[in-house]
Amino acid sequence: MSNRMWGGRFGGGPDDIMEEINASIGFDQRLFAQDIRGSLAHAQMLVSQGIISQADGKAIAEGLAQIEAEINDGKFKFSRALEDIHMNIEARLSELIGEPAGRLHTARSRNDQVATDFRLYVRDALDHMKAQIHELMAVLVSKAEAHSDTIMPGFTHLQPAQPVTFGHHLLAYVEMLARDAGRFQDARKRLNESPLGAAALAGTGFPIDRDMTAEALGFDAPMGNSMDAVSARDFALEALSATAICATHLSRLAEEIVIFSGPAYGFFDLPDAFSTGSSIMPQKRNPDAAELVRAKTGRIIGALGGLMVVMKGLPLAYSKDMQEDKEGVFNALDSLSLSLAAMRGMMDALGVNGDAMRAAAESGFSTATDLADWLVREAGLAFRQAHHVTGQLVALAEEKNCMLDELPLAEMQKLEAAISEDVFSVLSVENSVASRRVFGGTAPEAVRARVVHWQNWLAEAQS
Ligand code: ARG
Repeated sequence: MSNRMWGGRFGGGPDDIMEEINASIGFDQRLFAQDIRGSLAHAQMLVSQGIISQADGKAIAEGLAQIEAEINDGKFKFSRALEDIHMNIEARLSELIGEPAGRLHTARSRNDQVATDFRLYVRDALDHMKAQIHELMAVLVSKAEAHSDTIMPGFTHLQPAQPVTFGHHLLAYVEMLARDAGRFQDARKRLNESPLGAAALAGTGFPIDRDMTAEALGFDAPMGNSMDAVSARDFALEALSATAICATHLSRLAEEIVIFSGPAYGFFDLPDAFSTGSSIMPQKRNPDAAELVRAKTGRIIGALGGLMVVMKGLPLAYSKDMQEDKEGVFNALDSLSLSLAAMRGMMDALGVNGDAMRAAAESGFSTATDLADWLVREAGLAFRQAHHVTGQLVALAEEKNCMLDELPLAEMQKLEAAISEDVFSVLSVENSVASRRVFGGTAPEAVRARVVHWQNWLAEAQS
């Protein structure tokens, strides 16, 4: 049998394989609420413009409400032969209300319909993601507050570089996440225009009111070009870009959880609720949740690359290729949402081993820069010369198997006569971090000031 919606000129139905490759109902049924919302707005506008009768408008609205209830209750029968969510709903509407159902599609095409549905869906997802990011930020900020003076090694090249506070380290992720939330917010602004009324590609000759449907759907305005309206997917690309960047940030944090919870560092104790054991090695406690957050970044970045490749060769306006936009976006958004929730749970319950962190900070001569700076400031050496003398002092400490602040003053003076007792004021890790009070620095007081900044920021964002 040929398709009831578009089969007028067809002699027979599609090959089974054609039906399989063509159908999107398996994944676009997720858009049902948006599809119904769009249809309601469209039907109301058709009535108000005198394009369909009030009675037809009422029948359509009641039918759509029943369909929404059927889908919510799991009673709706989705059919692959009906291709997609739009035609599944329209066919059911026709079963329920008969002839008026056929008037709903006046001055509309599935092209502007799907573009509208998908924008509405992505818009909700962007809002949701922003809220989840704020929740994770709140967990990190309160951990940072608790650890504003917990000392750990700061790394470059994963080699101990200078001591930092763990609170400072955590707040670095808060800064990243705030920018991520901002990217979701920015993407929403550009997304928020309505394609509805563009019809297939050229607009319509019916006297529709695009402002009315745009407003009913919460869009700022109708899109200004009908060909762009049905064929633009940059809103999805932008959402995926923001998703991929945020996932990349989570992946870096996940990587640190994996590394620093291992016995080589022992900085973190993984919470039971977010780790697993091994079925063969009883001693194991594996950071699976962190590893999966790290790994999911792969599919999220893949979804961005995938849709870019789909779009790059498409002439205007709609091509069926665009049906492939949805699965990657759904999957990427789901994956990031799950990752944010997992990261929030992990970070909230993460045990912090301050003693191990401190011992590691002390072991790598991490105050060598402070020593060189002291030689410049207090002994008047040029920085290059100070760097050289400090290198010799590090070698000496290494030889004596002691820390820099355990070197006897007399031995230091043999290498540089200008060194005095005062040098010990900068050699401890406490004094090193405390000295970095500059805005954005790692000193406990600077960290506490930034914690307050973020607490206020979050209170504002969540109000
Ligand atoms: N299922 C289609 C999609 O997701 C809806 C639009 C179909 N339009 C068309 N001209 N065949 O893109």
